[in-house]
Amino acid sequence: MENKKLVFSGVQPTGNLHLGNYLGALKNFVSLQKEMECIYCVVDLHAITIFQNPKHLHNNVLETTASFIATGLDPNKSIIFNQSSVSGHAELAWILNCVSRIGWLNRMTQFKDKAGSDKEKASVGLYIYPNLMASDILLYKATHVPVGADQKQHLELSRDIAQKFNKDFNCKDFFPLPEPLISKKISRVMSLRDGTKKMSKSEESDYSRINLQDTADEINKKIKKAKSDSNSIPGEIKSLEKKPEALNLITIYSELTQSSLEKTISEMAGKEYSYLKKRLAEALIDEIAPVGKEIKKLLEDKSHLKNILKKGTEKASIIAEENLKNIREKVGLI
Ligand code: TRP
Repeated sequence: MENKKLVFSGVQPTGNLHLGNYLGALKNFVSLQKEMECIYCVVDLHAITIFQNPKHLHNNVLETTASFIATGLDPNKSIIFNQSSVSGHAELAWILNCVSRIGWLNRMTQFKDKAGSDKEKASVGLYIYPNLMASDILLYKATHVPVGADQKQHLELSRDIAQKFNKDFNCKDFFPLPEPLISKKISRVMSLRDGTKKMSKSEESDYSRINLQDTADEINKKIKKAKSDSNSIPGEIKSLEKKPEALNLITIYSELTQSSLEKTISEMAGKEYSYLKKRLAEALIDEIAPVGKEIKKLLEDKSHLKNILKKGTEKASIIAEENLKNIREKVGLI
């Protein structure tokens, strides 16, 4: 049987969403919502694999929800909720922990990066994080998963887990194999200070990123200070690739103006970087500043945000419970 198309994605509530999250994920979520059924989840259980101050976590869940709504996700169209409020995520994760293999997890490069040099001290949760991610997706039998390039390996693991479950429990096609939707044009927005590193909320300098809640003034300052190059803008992509910061600025600009990279490069060729920066700051202020204002406004009414999550939880639970019933049965649990 063909499974109907269903999109699932998750965003960690670690606070301070930035332009990378916006262009790499949120904007894509909004356009998918027009074509397919979508479930968007604030993955609080993933966040606590690294210790979170409880008060901050609470606020960050609401802030991430506000960012979803402010960028245009519609809670009447898409299901928007937080992961921990549907206990099936944790329950299925346990079952999948028993399907997934230690050897598979040992290959996950993100764990190696996040755990750093002292792996013995990382939480067990951080190690099995990809199994929980598989659970998020499979709990709803999602078919399409918009993610950044850094999550591709986790998604492949989800497919392996789905496949092994289907085989072990002799239920071909029970879990669809989820497909990644990775934006080709802009899968990574890079740091404004170092074009070889991803824009990240954990980079120390706030000048490395544009936060969704930055004011027009802050955006202007950050773009002015962004690393570029002293020469004028080259006309071919080959030369730009040697200047990752400059390429990053042009890529962001082309994405915001919905123009192809090639077209943007030919438009900018021979001009000074100050010209590009001026245009880029304008485009960012046009698009990001209103989103930031809306996030702040939404955060003034926390009960409204909690209500949105509650309604989403109700809708998600119906699908989750139905699927879990069948999953338990397949495994032989009474
Ligand atoms: N691991 C993802 C990230 O950090 C977030 C995530 C959790 C997710 N569960 C998911 C993404 C399920 C897609 C589908 O970006």
